[in-house]
Amino acid sequence: MIITLCGGGSTFTPGIVKSIALRKDELDVDEIRLYDINEERQRKIGVLVDWILHEDLGLDIKLTVTTDKKTAFTDASFVFAQMRVGGYAMREQDEKIPLRHGCVGQETCGCGGLAYGMRTIFPMVELIDDVEKYAKKDYWILNYSNPAAIVSEGCRVLRPNARIINICDMPIAIIDVVCAALDIDKKDVEYDYFGLNHFGWFTSIRHKGEEVLPQLREYIKEHEILLPDSYLKGMGSLMAKKPEEATDEHPEQNRHTKGSWYYVWKGEHEIMECFPEYLPNTYLNYYLQQKEFVEHSNPERTRANEVEETREKNLFDGIDHYEKTGEIDESTFYAGSHGDWIADLAIALKNDTKQRFLVICENKGAIPNMPYDAMVELPAYIGKNGPEVISRDNIPLFQQGLMMQQLNSEKLIVEATIEGSYEKALKAFTLNKTVPSMKVAKEVLDDMIEANKGYWPELK
Ligand code: G6P
Ligand code: MN
Repeated sequence: MIITLCGGGSTFTPGIVKSIALRKDELDVDEIRLYDINEERQRKIGVLVDWILHEDLGLDIKLTVTTDKKTAFTDASFVFAQMRVGGYAMREQDEKIPLRHGCVGQETCGCGGLAYGMRTIFPMVELIDDVEKYAKKDYWILNYSNPAAIVSEGCRVLRPNARIINICDMPIAIIDVVCAALDIDKKDVEYDYFGLNHFGWFTSIRHKGEEVLPQLREYIKEHEILLPDSYLKGMGSLMAKKPEEATDEHPEQNRHTKGSWYYVWKGEHEIMECFPEYLPNTYLNYYLQQKEFVEHSNPERTRANEVEETREKNLFDGIDHYEKTGEIDESTFYAGSHGDWIADLAIALKNDTKQRFLVICENKGAIPNMPYDAMVELPAYIGKNGPEVISRDNIPLFQQGLMMQQLNSEKLIVEATIEGSYEKALKAFTLNKTVPSMKVAKEVLDDMIEANKGYWPELK
């Protein structure tokens, strides 16, 4: 069995490969392939992955590192897609351009997310076509390329029959944090959730069948920030830090503990003070506290800069050090439960386990008061034929209203991309909750068009 990682030069690749390798028997994996369009990044990550598979774990899994599609996808059973179109340079633009106009600047939310979506839809479609052409007929693409909401809508419209499952690790990271806060074991936890990607709510969290949301509400009321010390254990300084107070002692182990992530974890407390009913996804802070976000953001230094100076730098410095000296510092490499979760999803598909996972999928009535064709995030049982989504009751007016506004903004940007329509792009920006007026939407869009030359289709 062959697994290909598309976007193999990602800083998350080593962690994901390790998760796959540790499950090699269940996955029955013989070969891992790394594919990227950036040859140098790919080569370096390949050096480290080679070490993980063959030195660290001593496995006889074949490793292929390539920039050639045919080599990458021929006879592959799984493709894990994690492309970042435009790299960190364009992430920086997505974050900084809206901020210059007083709007939230974020990788996947607001105008930044819309811009990133416009860059990513066609490359994703190209990937699907390549995989269709070369891979095994019953392939699965597990896609966590961002912005997942827009990418999955683009794929639904343009390649409705593709064997692709869109996923996101944020809810899992939130569950990790919740388990640490309540001192419970994740393996005994099941939850209900509804939303769009990066735009949803946990409505129930059960530990051994018993509802723990009441205890969680108490915990969040008492703690200003939802990041318990036990979650941060082994990381030196145990406190979550504001960006200006953050140190670089433990650069990678937990990216959520410092920098701009600080505010979204603090925001969980703030949102629940107003609306204690459900536990929100951290990303809802960008929509519900948009003004405050702009106020504490630094338009000269955003998350892209933080990542370049920490995760990126530490990983590539670590690889250079290994190439020069043969010494490995593992602390710069591994990224957490993200990879485990993706590898577990592949196991469920392959071995037909019917385990429960959150996935982004077409609604088809599962949330009765959302459109049939909305791409929503819901729990599903995963088996060899893909997700069997768990239907639920109508959702409340507040959440439904927010979701409809966001959904239509995302659908409009997909239509704008496909049709090359300036007016639809402007409607998508204007409709987004992070944007205060049509005039501001136009200013941001016009700057985005300049910055995205060569990536966006021409808008007329
Ligand atoms: C979470 C989200 C991803 C997002 C990532 C950004 O994992 O689910 O969609 O890409 O955070 O993390 P970063 O450390 O790059 O800001
Ligand atoms: Mn995500």
